[in-house]
Amino acid sequence: MAGEELRGKNILVTAGPTIESIDPVRYITNRSTGKMGYAIAAAAAKRGANVTLISGKTHIDPPSGISKFISVESTLDMQKAVMENFDESDAIIKSAAVADYRPKDVASEKIKKSEGGLTIELERNPDILKELGEIKGSKVLVGFAAETNDLIQNANEKIKKKNLDFIVANDLTKEGAGFAVDTNIVSIIDRSGEITKFPKMSKDELANVIIDKVTLLLQK
Ligand code: PMT
Repeated sequence: MAGEELRGKNILVTAGPTIESIDPVRYITNRSTGKMGYAIAAAAAKRGANVTLISGKTHIDPPSGISKFISVESTLDMQKAVMENFDESDAIIKSAAVADYRPKDVASEKIKKSEGGLTIELERNPDILKELGEIKGSKVLVGFAAETNDLIQNANEKIKKKNLDFIVANDLTKEGAGFAVDTNIVSIIDRSGEITKFPKMSKDELANVIIDKVTLLLQK
């Protein structure tokens, strides 16, 4: 459903994984490919929005038609880029898979192996979406939840804790949902608690469902 209904609106999308360095050659990350977030950015651009895409490292090209592309590595990099672009955004969609923890100390030289094991102490990263929820005002704020258990309960808690307009909950236990695949199986939960379950669909189709909802909220 392409159109001009988002002309003049600024949409900020985050996508992909964040990575957290252990030493100059090693890091911790997750399985996000950026496919979901890039599909959302493309769908918003097709409706005429000015799209800023802030992305962790991926192997896919940024979609055509977006206004700004910012490549980041760590959660702290993503937090900085998001906050710098927050004020001018009408809606923020956080589909990135953000590392909750980072190594407490990053070794300046490659860690040499020894006979024993290796323990890496981790410390908490900021919760970017929660911070956005605290300063949201009238902006539309959309989060994702990637869960392996208690999907609806966990997603509901995230809506409240992070002050979201709605959350897109991926059921990671289902084949064809979540990380890396071209499809997704989700429930969308509104602020009011209303749950809409969707069948398996392509990430492009789901991106349009999400952008339809964002468009309606922006028109209110
Ligand atoms: O990239 P793909 O391979 O296409 O996969 C898509 C996806 C599975 C990565 C995506 O659809 C998805 O579910 N993204 C969110 C994954 C995630 O980090 O979920 P979470 O339940 O840990 O986080 C909840 C929300 O808070 C997310 O919107 C996340 O961006 C945000 N968050 C989480 C932690 C943190 N420190 N800061 C955050 O902003």
